[in-house]
Amino acid sequence: MNNNAKVPVGVLGASGYVGQELLRLLARHPGTAVAFATADTAAGEWVEGHQLLQADDAPLERAAIVLSALPHGVSARYVNEARAAGKRAVDLSADFRLSAEAVYGLTEFSRPRLAQAELVANPGCYPTAALIALIPLAQRGLIDPSREVVIDAASGVTGAGRHPQRELLFGEVAEDYRAYAVGNTHRHLPELRAALERESGFAGDLVFTPHLLPVKRGILETIHVPLTGALDQGAAEGIYEAAYRGEPCVQVVRGALPSLKDVVYRNRVALGVAPVEHVRRPRLTVIAAIDNLVKGAAGQAVQNLNVMLGLPETLGLVC
Ligand SMILES: NC(=O)c1ccc[n+]([C@@H]2O[C@H](COP(=O)([O-])OP(=O)(O)OC[C@H]3O[C@@H](n4cnc5c(N)ncnc54)[C@H](OP(=O)(O)O)[C@@H]3O)[C@@H](O)[C@H]2O)c1
Repeated sequence: MNNNAKVPVGVLGASGYVGQELLRLLARHPGTAVAFATADTAAGEWVEGHQLLQADDAPLERAAIVLSALPHGVSARYVNEARAAGKRAVDLSADFRLSAEAVYGLTEFSRPRLAQAELVANPGCYPTAALIALIPLAQRGLIDPSREVVIDAASGVTGAGRHPQRELLFGEVAEDYRAYAVGNTHRHLPELRAALERESGFAGDLVFTPHLLPVKRGILETIHVPLTGALDQGAAEGIYEAAYRGEPCVQVVRGALPSLKDVVYRNRVALGVAPVEHVRRPRLTVIAAIDNLVKGAAGQAVQNLNVMLGLPETLGLVC
C-alpha cells in the first residue's frame, strides 16, 4: 500500500501511556499513516518519529479520523472540535461512553454500528474484560439477578496514566498490593452496568473492587457469578466457546485459567472458568485477563478504527 492510499489518523494525547501505545500500533499498521500527534506539557518531544504538537494547534484538516487519548473531562472538547471539522473520531476517554451520540465500541458486540459510526466511545479497560466475561452468561439468562455479581480486579500501574502522582511512585507501589475505590465507587461502574444491560437485559447488582498491582501493564479480574442453575466446567467453557467462536480477540482457555502473561502486548481478552464447590447455591468463577493498554485501550481503538474504515478487523494487531 503506498502512502497516498493510507488513511491519515490524528492522535490526541500521544505522550500518555495510551497515546504512546496508539503510535506504536499505528507505526506497524499498513493501512494508516499518522497525520499528527499532540501533547500538553510534552509538546515538542518526539514519540515513534512524530514531533508532538500542542493539542490546540492540531492540524485537523490533515486527518480523516482522530483518536483521542486525552484525560476524561478534557477529551470531549477536542473530540467535538474534530467532529465539527467533519472528522470521524474514536474517543478513548470516558467522556462519551454513556452518551447516545456515540457508538460504544466493544468491538465484538458493536460491529454493525461501528461501520457507519462517526463517533465511537472506546470502552474502559476494566469494563472491556468484565463485559466479555459476563455478556454471554447474561444473554442466556444464567446469572441470578437476585444475588450480586462480584468483580475483584487488579490492574498494573499504567492504568492510572503517566502524569506524576505520589501514590504511584515506585517506592509506594513496589512489593505492595492494595484495593482502591472500595464500596462500589469506581467511575467505571455506570459504564459497565449500562453496557451489560444494553447487550443482555441483565440489570442485577454488580460489586466492583479494583486493586493496584505492582506491574506495568495488565488486568486480571476474578468474577464471582451467581448462577440460576449449576454449570460444570465443560458446560461453562462450551458456552464461551460458542459465544466467541471465530472471534480473533477473545481466547477461551480450556482446562486452565489465564494469567497476565497470556495477554500482555496482545489485543486479547483471555477467559477461563471454574465451578465453585462447597457452596449451597450454584456459582461460577470466571477469570478474565486483558492488557489495559491494548485490548483495554489502544488496541481496541485500532480494532474499532479498522471496522470503521472497512479494513480487516485485526490489521496491525496481534491478538
Ligand atoms: N491507562 C489505561 O490503562 C487506560 C485504559 C483505557 C482508557 N484510558 C483512558 O485513555 C485516556 C488516556 O489515558 P492515559 O493513561 O494514557 O493518560 P496519560 O498517560 O495521563 O496521558 C494523557 C495525555 O493527554 C495529554 N493531556 C493532559 N491534559 C491535557 C490538556 N489539558 N490538554 C491537552 N492535552 C492534555 C497529556 O499530555 P502531557 O503528557 O504533555 O501532559 C498526555 O498526552 C484517559 O481518558 C483514560 O481514562 C486509559
